[in-house]
Amino acid sequence: MNTAWTQRVADIQSFKVMDLLKRAKELDAQGFDVVHMEAGEPDFATAAPVAEAAKRAIDEGMTQYTAAAGIMPLRETIARWYQQRYGLEISPQRIIVTSGASGALLMVFSLLAEQGRSFMMTDPGYPCNRQFLRLIEARGQLVPVGPEQNYQLTPELINQHWNEATAGVLLASPSNPTGAVVKRDELAAIAQTVREKQGHLVVDELYHGLTYGFDAPSILELDDNAFVLNSFSKYFGMTGWRLGWMVVPEVAVPEVEKLAQNLFISPCTVSQYAALAAFEPETLTILEQRRLAFEQRRDLLVSGLRELGFGIPVTPEGAFYVYADASHLTDNTFDYCWSLLEDDHVACTPGLDFGNNHAEKFIRFSYTTGVERIELALERLGKRING
Ligand SMILES: Cc1ncc(COP(=O)(O)O)c(C=O)c1O
Repeated sequence: MNTAWTQRVADIQSFKVMDLLKRAKELDAQGFDVVHMEAGEPDFATAAPVAEAAKRAIDEGMTQYTAAAGIMPLRETIARWYQQRYGLEISPQRIIVTSGASGALLMVFSLLAEQGRSFMMTDPGYPCNRQFLRLIEARGQLVPVGPEQNYQLTPELINQHWNEATAGVLLASPSNPTGAVVKRDELAAIAQTVREKQGHLVVDELYHGLTYGFDAPSILELDDNAFVLNSFSKYFGMTGWRLGWMVVPEVAVPEVEKLAQNLFISPCTVSQYAALAAFEPETLTILEQRRLAFEQRRDLLVSGLRELGFGIPVTPEGAFYVYADASHLTDNTFDYCWSLLEDDHVACTPGLDFGNNHAEKFIRFSYTTGVERIELALERLGKRING
């Protein structure tokens, strides 16, 4: 068989944590009590009203393709959400329903970057971004960030790193893996800087709704020309339904629709009808309870990890991750995570999956498991560290 795969696929890296995940599942199957803190998805099942809406859609035969940009009732519902949540008037025409934020990332980068161009983004950051860029022969321009910058890009960093190849900037707020949120003033200053550079600004608002103590501002409150990515995966607890959306400037709509038609034909039909129920008050009440549960878990995990000596100089304000500096324990968190799994049955993700910036010192803990399980993980870590 001819195995001359393309260079672009050869260059794409797999998640390093995959083997670790496989092993964690094996240990589960062998009857070991593994505490799972590696997952990037809520442990809660999709809210009942959403599941019911999906069942109704199937019963009513809603199983054929839809328009490439999604069904209009969902685009209108999302537009109302922007009104309700952010006080913004967004035309439903500007909202494109996508196959998860992953589908949106592929389209947005295809539209805004190409061979020889790059997109600036944080290191650490969500690893798939740079793989998408590689796929379209462009490049992720990784900018190291730390607690001094609240793990986010700043206008200064953007100015400092901007070069002729830079097509734009990708922000993720709240961020994966750090949970860091860009505040309104800083967001406005970043938007201004990118405008001055005549670049594109893409903001991944996937973890909006999952902030603790305040609501994250949308870039659309400050810059109507930005491209926004969002998803039903995280706040709405619908990872497996593979549904997201993007908000794009009016002039970009026909181009994105063209891409959507060719790449995906349409987003999943049943998921779209299900998602209509995601914004119902009944569902939002459930999601709010879950948000409060996440907050409680975060507080427990952050204080527990700090007591054990992990470095968490900035309290994560959103998402469901704690990116902890474990350099008091190891200079190789990849191996450390493996032995934590094998010996203590605690599964978490080594920093190497999120970039190169001191990654070997960091571990990402997801609080996508209940309080008792987090307590158990802390107890096991405590025994390991303090004997
Ligand atoms: C920052 C970020 N962006 C995008 C995605 C992709 O999400 P989905 O395709 O499930 O909407 C993820 C998933 O973990 C993420 O963490």
